[in-house]
Amino acid sequence: MDKIKIVGGTRLNGVIPISGAKNAALPLMIASLLTRETVTLANMPLLADVMLLERILGNHGVDYAIAGKRTGESVDAGRTVHLTAREIVDTTAPYDLVSRMRASFWVLAPLVARCGEARVSLPGGCAIGTRPVDLLLMALEKLGAKLDIENGYVVASAKNGLTGAEIDFPKVTVGGTHTALMAASLARGTTVLRNAAREPEVVDLADCLIKMGARIKGAGQSTIEIEGVGSLFGARHAVMPDRIEAGTYAMAVAMTGGDVLLAGARSDLLQAGLDALVQAGASITETNEGLRVTRNGAGISPVDVTTAPFPAFPTDLQAQFMALMTRAKGVSRITETIFENRFMHVQELARLGARIKLEGDTAIVTGADHLDGAPVMATDLRASVSLVIAALAARGETTINRVYHLDRGFERLEKKLRGCGAEIERITAAG
Ligand code: EPZ
Repeated sequence: MDKIKIVGGTRLNGVIPISGAKNAALPLMIASLLTRETVTLANMPLLADVMLLERILGNHGVDYAIAGKRTGESVDAGRTVHLTAREIVDTTAPYDLVSRMRASFWVLAPLVARCGEARVSLPGGCAIGTRPVDLLLMALEKLGAKLDIENGYVVASAKNGLTGAEIDFPKVTVGGTHTALMAASLARGTTVLRNAAREPEVVDLADCLIKMGARIKGAGQSTIEIEGVGSLFGARHAVMPDRIEAGTYAMAVAMTGGDVLLAGARSDLLQAGLDALVQAGASITETNEGLRVTRNGAGISPVDVTTAPFPAFPTDLQAQFMALMTRAKGVSRITETIFENRFMHVQELARLGARIKLEGDTAIVTGADHLDGAPVMATDLRASVSLVIAALAARGETTINRVYHLDRGFERLEKKLRGCGAEIERITAAG
């Protein structure tokens, strides 16, 4: 397995192109199951999760074609892909694939909406918590799907199609909102979602569905209204920029000091994260090309954050912000309210010299003068990248194992950081 080696202590200076968002690309790809026609997605990130989902969708009969780059497009421009689900050849999503990527469970909604049946493996738990799917199932049941659990699979049927309904989510769920949006788009009549997720990725999916002919009002707000249609069409859509990737590199610059333009990043997608960074001592300016992040002189100030659904501070940046706080001049409290077990990075950060105490859902971080390089590993993608941030500021060499976690969600991470002067390299398993 590949490793990443980092020698810390270099400031970051330069330009980092921000890729298309993983968490928007995945539901957009899944939405292609809703129509016989071709859905074209531009600005697609090249990530392990995207490639795995290509395989999963291929099993259902989706034809996947990568368009060539146009003259003048650089390697940073993002790929354009065409997804065509002319016929659904198989409505089963097997355990060995769904267990490798939870988001693939979302195929349940378009399959049952379009084909009237689906058999999708329950995803099981994962490193950051139990992550139940009860609310996704509740939404589909409200829309009239009959659901059974058989041998670890959800078996859904709606022989006469789905019917619009009122769905009140007792808790904000991104996957539940994606699921309900896709299913309700092809249901008969009107659906109203209450306490829907307001995450930008939900808006991106809704925008694409609207281009495909869906009638959706209110995406980005807590109440969304969907007027079902008989069929959806092909469309072309560009994946939104990855706000978590942008926030991650902004935190890396705040950690090392320097001056970096995050090309293509948008502050409206990330305000709570940027506010915390400014409080910590970074300067952020929005330009026509993206966000410019700088930190000079003074050290990092301690800042308390609490994760919560959008527009609050995102759970997907919690580990990275904790890495930054390990070098703050004082004590900060980081509270995680979305996932119950998303502190797997704490023990690994401690291996680099971080001083972090856990009290229930809160990590109390006492900033240290310096961190020291060490071999580390992580169990999920955001935890892994928090170790990269810490390593960039640590004295000496850090080796990060289990790099496949990073490859799931960060496109060309080591190249992007090396382009800004970081001493970082990938050691391939063969080398
Ligand atoms: C999405 O996961 C993201 N994944 C996650 O990013 C992100 O952390 C999360 O939203 C929250 O923002 C993708 O978009 C592919 P949820 P999702 O349903 O949809 C509970 C990353 O690192 N819940 O919004 O699975 C759940 O346990 C990943 O890129 C139920 O109780 O998250 C959690 O506590 C990790 N029942 C809360 O809701 C349900 O049926 C929010 O989860 C569904 C969720």
